[in-house]
Amino acid sequence: MRLDIISIFPEYFAPLDVSLIGKARERGTLDVRVHQLRDWAYDVHRTVDDTPYGGGPGMVMKPEVWGEAIDAVIGASAIPGGGHVRGSDEDEGRDGGEARATPQASAPGPVESQPVAPGTDAPATVEPTIVASLTPVLPRMIVPTPSGRPFSQELAQELAQEPWLLFACGRYEGIDSRVMEEYSGRLRVDEVSIGDYVLAGGEVAVLVMVEAIGRLLPGVLGNAQSVVDDSFAPGSMENLVEGPVYTKPPVWRGHEVPAVLLSGHHGNVARWRRDEAIRRTVRNRPELAAALDPAKLDKHDRKLLDELSFRVRRKDVAN
Ligand code: 6GU
Repeated sequence: MRLDIISIFPEYFAPLDVSLIGKARERGTLDVRVHQLRDWAYDVHRTVDDTPYGGGPGMVMKPEVWGEAIDAVIGASAIPGGGHVRGSDEDEGRDGGEARATPQASAPGPVESQPVAPGTDAPATVEPTIVASLTPVLPRMIVPTPSGRPFSQELAQELAQEPWLLFACGRYEGIDSRVMEEYSGRLRVDEVSIGDYVLAGGEVAVLVMVEAIGRLLPGVLGNAQSVVDDSFAPGSMENLVEGPVYTKPPVWRGHEVPAVLLSGHHGNVARWRRDEAIRRTVRNRPELAAALDPAKLDKHDRKLLDELSFRVRRKDVAN
C-alpha cells in the first residue's frame, strides 16, 4: 500500500519509523511518503493560511497551496518514471531520493521487470490495457477533521483494501472547502473524525488511522487471528470490546488467573472470553451493547445479558 501524507509538520510522522509500521515500511509492505505542504507555497513567507470569509476567529488554509500540492502528489504518479515536481528536503531523506512512479513500480518481481521477446534483447510489446490495470491511477483521499464521518474498525478494514491513500492534514480552522469539492470530482474524498474532541490539527488523527489501517495489511501482524478477535472487528466481535487478558505467573501478589484459562478446554475458554467481552461491553460501552444484533446472539449470550439486567428487545430475538 502506498500512503502519501501532506502536512505543514512532517516531523509529526517520525513514529511511523517505529514498531510494526516501521517494520512494514522496511519490508516494502507500506510505502509512506510525507510531504511538506509549504513546498507548494511560493511567496517569501510560504503562507498556507488566510482569514476566513464571513469573519470569525482563526485562520483557514488556502486552496491554491493545497491544489498545487495534491496535483503534484497525484500527478507525479501518472507520469511513467516521474517523481515529485518539487520535493522537500524532508521527503528526499525519507524516500531515499526520487519518488517512484507507482506503488507497483516499487514492488519487486515481474511487475517491475521489462518483458523481453524470445530471441531478442528488445522489450516485448506489452498491451497498454494490461499495464494500466496494474496501476492505481488515483488515490483515495482522506481529510481528517472533527466534523468528518466517524473512523471505525469497519472503515479501517475498508481503507486497508485500497492500494493508495492520500491524507491531507489541515491545521487552524481547516482547509478551504473548495479543495474537497474540487477533488471530489476526481477522487473518492472522505472527511473523517477519530472521535468527539478537537485536536489542534489532523496529524495525530492521521497517525491513529495509519496505525489502525497498517496493522490490518497482510503480513504486518504476526498472527492473522488477532485481527479477527479484535474489539469491534466485524463478525463475532461486532459491537463488543475484548475482555481481560492474563499471562504467567498463575498467581501474582495473591491475584489468581481465572481457572478456566488454565484448564486447556478450548470450548470453555472461548465461552468464557465471550462472556467477559459481553460483561465489559455492558459496563464500559452500554451504547455498543444496545446495538448488539440479536441475530448474532446465542441463548447463552441472551441469558448473560438478562443477568446483567441489560435487556435485548425480545421482539427482535429470533428464537
Ligand atoms: Cl480527524 N482532526 C482534528 N483536528 N481534530 C479531531 C479529529 C480530526 N478527530 C477528532 N478530533
